[in-house]
Amino acid sequence: MRTQVGIVGAGPAGLMLSHLLHLYGIESAVIDIRSRESIEGTVRAGILEQNTVDMMTNAGVDARMKREGIPHHGIELRFNGRGHRIDFTELANGRGVMVYAQHEVLIDLIKQRINGDEGPLLFGVSDVSVSGITDGKPTISFTQDGSRQQIECDYVVGADGSQTYCRFLIPEGKIRKDYFRQYPFAWFGILAKAPASSDELIYTHHERGFALISTRSPDVQRMYFQCDPDDSVENWSDDKIWNEFQTRVNGPGAEIKPGEIFQKDILQFRSFVCEPMQYGKLFLAGDAAHTVPPTGAKGLNLAMADVHVLARAIGSYYASKSVEYLDGYTATALRRVWRAQHFSWWMTSMLHRFSDASDFDLQRQLAELDVITSSRQGSALLAEQYVGYPLA
Ligand code: DHB
Repeated sequence: MRTQVGIVGAGPAGLMLSHLLHLYGIESAVIDIRSRESIEGTVRAGILEQNTVDMMTNAGVDARMKREGIPHHGIELRFNGRGHRIDFTELANGRGVMVYAQHEVLIDLIKQRINGDEGPLLFGVSDVSVSGITDGKPTISFTQDGSRQQIECDYVVGADGSQTYCRFLIPEGKIRKDYFRQYPFAWFGILAKAPASSDELIYTHHERGFALISTRSPDVQRMYFQCDPDDSVENWSDDKIWNEFQTRVNGPGAEIKPGEIFQKDILQFRSFVCEPMQYGKLFLAGDAAHTVPPTGAKGLNLAMADVHVLARAIGSYYASKSVEYLDGYTATALRRVWRAQHFSWWMTSMLHRFSDASDFDLQRQLAELDVITSSRQGSALLAEQYVGYPLA
């Protein structure tokens, strides 16, 4: 098979890129080792920042998101048992976020690719290998249904997530891999059939640890509480879970409404950035290049921002044969990545309980939350980062 851009990975970055390239009139082929069912059924993040909503809209894949997504115009920060609203409309120039689960975005993008006849999209491939990114012809080889196949292309995009194969194509000595931070806690996440406990997301600081009240629909709720990274879902009965949420969140203006829990998972916390995000004819996008802790809800949005920059750079190459934007991809993408790393680290460190924290550390955290919520400038700094800086 011969195409212009070969894309490894059918997650948010790979699928959105293939669609944007199609809109530019550029051919691509997308492969993924996972099945379509697995991609469409894996529950991940749920917050689309304004840029992502705008990208979906401008790319014409917004019909279901507009119907089923829930626009949010603020969040609540809760500490010392009281809630403090951060109003996005007022503080972030009318920008906001949308609650619409990542796997719903993927369902929409896959449908668009297939129904719109936008090019090959192959699931369940194995033994992926890539050659020719610095010399010869870039080629992606893989096995499908027992037979070995090849995609010859001009460029390869590694959008293959945090378990990436493509990142390792950049040789040692040409890549920095030491931008890494492990956090000493994790999130225990649940999905529950229950009424919403709150109209807006609640980010709670509590002496027992952080808790986050989010939602998926009027009758499905997504909630998380900080736990030990070595904890296991078996340690938590439904009663114990609801008790924990109620202890951390309930108080004036907030009451957790329990229901039937149908999924429990534990999310690990990591920060990682690889630099550069390109090598020869290879470009990395999304989690293949960087990971953020979930507190800032930035992972999916960074993947979308990467491919916004990359699609434009590839488009510019085919329109004018200029490689200026392609050469600048890493610098442009990393500026946003580092800002998101900072925001995610800030939200994480301000709201979580560190096991070695002294009483001094606790009071300092509470003072920081007090500063942010009682100052218009402080609240605006949080709001504009939460909804996302406009795309360059
Ligand atoms: C959700 C996840 C996040 O990491 C976050 O900060 C907010 C909401 C969610 O899954 O709904």
